Amino acid sequence: MTRQTPAPRAAGRTSLFRALPRAALALAPALGGCMGPQSALNPAADDAAKLLLLTEIMTVGGALIFTAVMIFVGLAVWAPPRWRGWLARRETVVAGGIVFPVLTLTALLIYGLWLMRVTNAPAPGGDALTITVTGEQYWWRVHYPAEGDAAAFATANEVQVPVGRPVRILLEAADVVHAFWIPNYAGKVDMIPGRQTAIQFTPDRPGQFRGLCTEFCGDQHARMAFDVVALPPAEFAAWRQRQATDAAPPAAAFTVLGREVFTRSGCGSCHAVRGSDAKGELGPDLTHVGSRRSIGAGLYPTNIGTLAGWISGTQQLKPGARMPSYGSLSGEELRAVAGYLDQLK
Ligand code: CUA
Repeated sequence: MTRQTPAPRAAGRTSLFRALPRAALALAPALGGCMGPQSALNPAADDAAKLLLLTEIMTVGGALIFTAVMIFVGLAVWAPPRWRGWLARRETVVAGGIVFPVLTLTALLIYGLWLMRVTNAPAPGGDALTITVTGEQYWWRVHYPAEGDAAAFATANEVQVPVGRPVRILLEAADVVHAFWIPNYAGKVDMIPGRQTAIQFTPDRPGQFRGLCTEFCGDQHARMAFDVVALPPAEFAAWRQRQATDAAPPAAAFTVLGREVFTRSGCGSCHAVRGSDAKGELGPDLTHVGSRRSIGAGLYPTNIGTLAGWISGTQQLKPGARMPSYGSLSGEELRAVAGYLDQLK
């Protein structure tokens, strides 16, 4: 028996039918990226959910309209002449080319304007937690006001919020224009020097997310991220209470030496450590730097190793940042000062 070779056209079709599911399978892992801590497709607050719905309406609607147009193009080219006559009628052109686009785009415009209003509206009742975030080259200054028993305090590169309570973030810029974006929570809002803008959302579940700067602000724009943590209300209150307290004096001899090096090297002229002589306001407040998830505006996880590397090589790791590299410190001094900062929990 001889095997027949299939006709070339059939072979082409078979391989296409086989290739399509394979291509879909190969692309499936990429979909995992849509569910991450920095994704507008994984909403964790009311505003992001509303924006996602708009995205879905636009994507599905756009795909349906594109398909319909392609069908009409196919009919215009291949359909029998009497159908083509129907397509060329004045009524068809007016309905498809004028009435349909005007109705669809007007509906989208009205929906979009309504969405702009509701996503930026302050919470009724004035119950919102109000935080101020200032964009700096290239980090985020974060200020929590006094509330109840908790005093006001400053932190950096980390925004912690309670679940279920509206959060209003006032946005400012210290030097150039930045833009503030937490994709899982809300849309982007510009931070403009000399002006105050605002964003508001209500986190709907606990979780850890990532925010970033989305306006080119200088050569380290791409390394200007921050951590976002949503906590149940009681845990948030405890966190806020801890952050508002002064730093405890270092206990171990090693970290006492670290504080000495910190003071001697002049770190306190740019950084504040509440409860110590360091009162600088140029750079991030370091009172509880050891409790933050990352250093360098989302660059590295916080630990003694990364802190030591950052202090000795700031300009190598983030050229153009305002902090100079402290490469002249000895290994022992570097480990000690990193140890001192790491225990500031
Ligand atoms: Cu700040 Cu880009």
